[in-house]
Amino acid sequence: MTQALDEIKIGGLGASRKRVEDDRFIRGKGNYTDDITLPGMLHMEILRSPLAHARIKSIDASKAWDIPGVHLVLTGDMMATRNLAWMPTLSYDTQAVLATDKVRFQGQEVACVIADDPYIAKDACEAIDVDYEPLPVIVNPTQAVADGAPVIRDDKENQAGNVIYHWEVGDAAGTDRAFEQADVISRLQLHYPRSHPSPIECCGSIADFNRATSKLTVYMTTQAPHIIRAAVALVAELPEQMIRIISPDIGGGFGNKVPVYPGYVCSILASILLERPVKWIEDKTGNLISTGFARDVYLDGEMALRRDGKILGVRMGCDADHGAFFSDAQPSKFKLGLIHSAFAAYDIPVAHLMARGIYTNKAPGGVAYRCSFRVTEAMFFQERMVQAAADDLGMDQAEFRRMNFVKDEDFPHRTPLGFLTDSGQYAKCLDVGLKAVGYEDFRKRQEEARARGRLLGLGISTMTEPLGAGNSREYDILGIKMFDSAELKVHMTGKAIVRTGARGQGQGHETTWAQIVAHELGIPAEDIVVEEGDTDTAPFGMGTYASRSTPVAGAAVAMVSRKIRAKARKLAAHLLEVSEEDVEWELGRFYVRSAPDRGVTIQECAMAAYSNMPDGMEPGLENTAYYDPPNLTWPFAVYIVTVEVDPATGVWDVLTTVAVDDCGIRINPMIVEGQIMGGLTEAYAMANMQFITFDAEGNCIGSNYMDYLLPTAWETPGFELHSEVVTPCPHHPIGAKGIGECAAVGGPAAFVNAVIDALTGTGVRNIDMPLLPDRVWEAITYRRDVSGAPPVRSDD
Ligand code: CDP
Repeated sequence: MTQALDEIKIGGLGASRKRVEDDRFIRGKGNYTDDITLPGMLHMEILRSPLAHARIKSIDASKAWDIPGVHLVLTGDMMATRNLAWMPTLSYDTQAVLATDKVRFQGQEVACVIADDPYIAKDACEAIDVDYEPLPVIVNPTQAVADGAPVIRDDKENQAGNVIYHWEVGDAAGTDRAFEQADVISRLQLHYPRSHPSPIECCGSIADFNRATSKLTVYMTTQAPHIIRAAVALVAELPEQMIRIISPDIGGGFGNKVPVYPGYVCSILASILLERPVKWIEDKTGNLISTGFARDVYLDGEMALRRDGKILGVRMGCDADHGAFFSDAQPSKFKLGLIHSAFAAYDIPVAHLMARGIYTNKAPGGVAYRCSFRVTEAMFFQERMVQAAADDLGMDQAEFRRMNFVKDEDFPHRTPLGFLTDSGQYAKCLDVGLKAVGYEDFRKRQEEARARGRLLGLGISTMTEPLGAGNSREYDILGIKMFDSAELKVHMTGKAIVRTGARGQGQGHETTWAQIVAHELGIPAEDIVVEEGDTDTAPFGMGTYASRSTPVAGAAVAMVSRKIRAKARKLAAHLLEVSEEDVEWELGRFYVRSAPDRGVTIQECAMAAYSNMPDGMEPGLENTAYYDPPNLTWPFAVYIVTVEVDPATGVWDVLTTVAVDDCGIRINPMIVEGQIMGGLTEAYAMANMQFITFDAEGNCIGSNYMDYLLPTAWETPGFELHSEVVTPCPHHPIGAKGIGECAAVGGPAAFVNAVIDALTGTGVRNIDMPLLPDRVWEAITYRRDVSGAPPVRSDD
């Protein structure tokens, strides 16, 4: 008789275990960068440019130096003498650390003051006199590529205009032929507006250079500590083994904490020069105007259609406004991230995509805000285009999607823009969603309501999202291949510690990685500690963003557990005095095949690894696994939203939101639901209220929470979640697919589609996000599309 453990009871796969990290978070005992105080610590503040484009004629910092308590004033010229005025970005561009020649966006870093406390440092920043000569400002791609536009990046040799790159994917000629054969051509133009990930905790660092040991320790808000270590080693020319990056608790990242920011570099240099710890903590306005913006892409596409609804081909054009520096991270082969994953859920014979990256006088943008490198823009455009095409054909929204989906039996499927999707049950997920929302019934109610002047709408968004970069063959950042790692040490009493190269920022890794070990080894999850974020202890990894943790680091946790199990099997054979081939495994225990009652637990094997190993066996029970995924994981999701729009005011209320997510095996169903709810909240915010823009002078409108609205529990609608469709990932060791961002990626289109659907009959095809009441009112009243593109220059 065997005695396998109950997996749910030990907190294994499928257990909705409470998040262990919440014990400290909800008690206010988290340890964030700003909580850390080191002996002798100084404080740094940054002087930012008030202008979006101006030549710097002079900087006079003498008054700042004279303020008591000021230890150092850093300017661009001083950085230049150390070859640090510019730094390389994660996308093969350069970025000013402190401005020398020009400022190129409002909020750009111009100088830093290091003082006894942050208040003195801030006052001293205000005492710095900068003489600016204003230059014409460019706030959108149309202005940037116009004849005679000023060249923003005149620091770069051979940079004639403001175009950063021109990138094409797909089959242009084949797509042209598909369009020649089309019965109907559907077209849609839209702007996915600039947004800010806006984590509650801003960015910051504490650099601590110890001259006696030559060791540099930096506590910082980074989602990718090992990449930062490499960057510091290369940029500051410090030996990598003497650099320790510690990423303590992070108060939300959402992609905002992936890039390398000037504040990090300046605090490090200041600590080296002053030989004291230097803390820099950004304020909210600094964060909102200068760090890691996302999106800001102009999308223009066409779909070639057969009268019966078959999609024959797609053309897509994208102009991405990157701001003044191309500094967001993406796999180096793909200039606009994974934008070419658009339409991956549909069986489309041919497609072509043309993308341009463009400099403007705005803060650097394009970070993967809760998305896998630009898939948010891709899926938004896809689902808005699909709705427009179905409308143009007079087809039912659900039927049009179902007809064009990749079918279950057609996997693996090569998309026309080059990805390999490998699994999914798209039609089944759609059926679950339609049933949950009461589709047929809603359509009837919608007709009846319309007859009475009430505007009800239903929006569908269906998408598969590429999550979990690498594989290393195709995915690298600055040449560093995208894989990940896990290290597992089982102590002699059978308790364990697992460390990964990922770095969670609230996703619950400390809970779920332990569940994977519990599933693989039968060690109860509560006996396993998870540690991430310290480069001196964690194995090398590319960090957490783009929902890559479960697909890559999570897989590494499973693989290292299997290595441990393989060694434990040898120990079990030794303890049971049988050959290894005669040993069977069940959760938490090895037993003799012919005598199942004779067995040893994994804990007994652990003790033997330190006290009773067979002759010749290396002692201990620990190992490391590096995991290079064979493919991305492809979760699928259906989001369906119903709304009522008030024609008199343009205000719209959400009636229902249904989410059907198939992310393969769920490690922790409760955490997965939390991820989906968080993503839907952000999707609703993008669609409804989150508005950050720039006026004609490049002033950032939305640099505080009075202007840039985040939904609270009060504004956020309820969500109905469905988990009944499970298609395990065929190549992930435990069948899991990523989930962290799906709802933020696929959700916005469902909300917008619902409002546009409510306006059926008005001729309105598009209102750009956010669908503020005035925009919706304008669309209804004047029966026209409403663009959210930023203004052209005031003198135009
Ligand atoms: O990379 P990131 O952690 O942001 O995203 P993720 O890998 O999609 O995981 C988000 C959270 O959901 C983690 O705690 C995962 O372990 C958990 N998760 C899960 O329980 N089951 C899945 N199939 C996917 C994620």
